[in-house]
This record gives sequence, structure tokens and C-alpha cells, in this order.
Amino acid sequence: MAPAAAADTADTADGTTDALQERYRNGFFLAPMVRVGTLPLRLLCLEYGADLVWTSEVVDKSITGCERVVDSATGVVSFVRDGRCAFTTHPDEKQRVIFQLGSARPEMALEAARVVEGDVSGIDLNCGCPKKFSVHGGMGAALLSDPDRLCSILDVLVKNISVPISCKIRVLEDDEKTLALVRRIAATGISALTVHCRTRSMRPREKALWDRLGCIVRELAPLPVILNGDVFEFDDVRRGRECTGATSAMAARGAAANPSIFRPEGPVPAVEAVVAYAKTAMRVGNHVQNTKYTLMQMYPDTKSAKFEALRSAKSYADICAVLELAEPPAITAAAAAAAAAGPAKRSAAASTCPGVDTPTCSSTTPDGIAHPQKRIRS
Ligand SMILES: Cc1cc2nc3c(=O)[nH]c(=O)nc-3n(C[C@H](O)[C@H](O)[C@H](O)COP(=O)(O)O)c2cc1C
Repeated sequence: MAPAAAADTADTADGTTDALQERYRNGFFLAPMVRVGTLPLRLLCLEYGADLVWTSEVVDKSITGCERVVDSATGVVSFVRDGRCAFTTHPDEKQRVIFQLGSARPEMALEAARVVEGDVSGIDLNCGCPKKFSVHGGMGAALLSDPDRLCSILDVLVKNISVPISCKIRVLEDDEKTLALVRRIAATGISALTVHCRTRSMRPREKALWDRLGCIVRELAPLPVILNGDVFEFDDVRRGRECTGATSAMAARGAAANPSIFRPEGPVPAVEAVVAYAKTAMRVGNHVQNTKYTLMQMYPDTKSAKFEALRSAKSYADICAVLELAEPPAITAAAAAAAAAGPAKRSAAASTCPGVDTPTCSSTTPDGIAHPQKRIRS
């Protein structure tokens, strides 16, 4: 994205706040996406030009108590407990990855954030997920109707965590209620707010309500406000920011379909991005089921024989055969073994544990393995 324009730089009396907020300005970001937004997609989006990348939501209790395991061959950093991998990252993304946390309790949120704060650039609280799994525990979109709880979590994170804290919400039913909520959220001292411009009950196929964002941006200025919802290509960033005044924009489904939407010069053909994704996934030893699932979101022609072959793939060898790729030597024996194993079967002692962040926000199985037939485009 374009370098920060002087006019967009916050003119705060507190230079520290300004510095924390700066990275959220003038950017085009990858949105959090359960299962899809694992390490290889994030690395690839960064390569294509994304300014910041959000992890998929990781629930506090699944990261708390995790052991940090580094694979010396790939550099992949995994957070593992009881043979289960809650989160993987890599030093290559450290300066630009925002860890999204699912939580309903300040003390749990703090404990979880402390586990990863040394490996990420920021921590984001998910206050927008409307799925049963999330709201059931008082997390996600449930926090929108419990502002005391929401703000108490942000408060404790802002005061105790060394990296910037942000928050992702949906709009409420009307502007008055939304403004009352965002005023309270901003008062906690967060460094940025992402607004998914749909209400909790709206489906992804319904047009995002960009016209609801302008008053939030004006109310919170100079706090960075990130536009999310129906940003599918680079030009939507320009249009969306012009229309709403938002500081930055964030894409989910568009990036899952083609991660190269972050290229200012225009995306590469989806098939090219598919191959680039597969190579990145193998390089970091991503879990093969997760790789296959994400490839199936990306593969452009769902009626083709290649798509059917991808659907049947069981290993990286199968995926490479479909995509006519040589298996790269960079995938280490340990990574290959871990990539072939299911997440529940992996051992904490394995030298790498790549790929599957704990799912909370999708209709997939609770063990991190997606139903590969499902495509997420609405
Ligand atoms: C597959 C999938 C998984 C998602 N997982 C999360 C998540 O973990 N946390 C979150 O805040 N939002 C999640 N979302 C919502 C997106 O971040 C985003 O708010 C929404 O898709 C609207 O953006 P879009 O119109 O660019 O798709 C998910 C969306 C999709 C499609």
C-alpha cells in the first residue's frame, strides 16, 4: 500500500500512542479467517504486498499453557500442548502478524496473550464472530452486547501487553448504539479498531454497509479505523476509504480466493496463486489437510478434473501430482511426518507442528480438519 501520508498521521500529544497506531494506517490487510488464515496464507499474502496479516481466532484456553517449539530446519514456531498445536508462526511474519484472540474473561485473555506476545506484532480481540461455538462462551459477537466485559478485556490487555492491542467488531443495529459502543472501546486505549460493516445477523452474501462506517471514523479520529466487508480487490480499498474515510481496509474472502489481490499492480491468475500457496505450505510443513482445504477455496475451476483430483488428494505427493509440481526438498522429514499426521496425533516432542490453528468460528469439525467439500465464498 502507499506509504503513510502526512495528513493521515495521528497528531497526538502522546508520541507513544502515535507510534503504536502507525502500523495500522494506510494499509491493506488480510482478515482473520479460521482454518484458511494459517501460516502459509499469511506468508503468501505478505509476499504479495499485504501490510499486516491477522491470524484466525485462537481461543484463550487453547493457547494458555502451550509450549513454544521451534523447528530449526524451517524456523516455524509452534505453540503446542498435549500433542495439539494451537498456533504456528514464523519469524518472517513477526513484524506484521496480528494474533486474534477469542476470549470472554480478562484474566484468561491476559494469560493467553502473554504466551504469544514475543512472537507477534499485535493482539486483536475478536468481538464479531456470530457462530454458536464462539457466542456460546460469551466470546465473539456476544461481547457486543456486553460492553463492560468487552472493555474489561481490552483494558487488561492494553495495560499489560507490550504489543499494540486492537479489536474487531460488527456494526450494531443503529448508529447511536454503535457510536456509544465504539466510544467506550476507544477509551480503553486500543491502537486500532476493525469494523466488519455487517450486523451480527447479516449473512456474508448481504452487501456490507459501508455507509455505516463514516460516523465511526469521524467519532474516533485519530484512532485508526479499518474497513472490513466486501473488499475484494485493490480498487475496493481506494473506493472504500474514499467513501468511509477509513484509515485502512481488510479483506477476507477475496484473499482466500486469490491471495495476490494485495498486489498494487493487480492480481496474478488464480492458478498461479494456487501453485505459490502450495509451495509456501510445503516450505513451512503445513498440515496437509489444511493445505488441501485452503487450496480448494482458491482453485478457480471447481468443475475441472484437477479440482476433483485435488479433492481426492491425501498427501503432499498427491497435491504435487495434481499441480504438476516437484516436491521441494525444503520440506524436512520431521515436517513431512507432522504434516501427514492429524493435529490430535502430533506429539509435543515433534520438531515441528505446523498448520492448524484452533478453530472456533466455522462450521467445521472441532479437531481442526475442515470438510473439504465446502467453499466459503458466499
Ligand atoms: C472462512 C472464514 C473464517 C473466518 N474466521 C474469522 C475469525 O477467525 N475471526 C474473525 O474475526 N472473523 C472471521 N471471519 C470473518 C472475516 O474476518 C470478515 O470479517 C468477513 O468475512 C467479511 O469480510 P469479507 O467481506 O472480505 O469476506 C471469517 C470469515 C471467513 C469467510
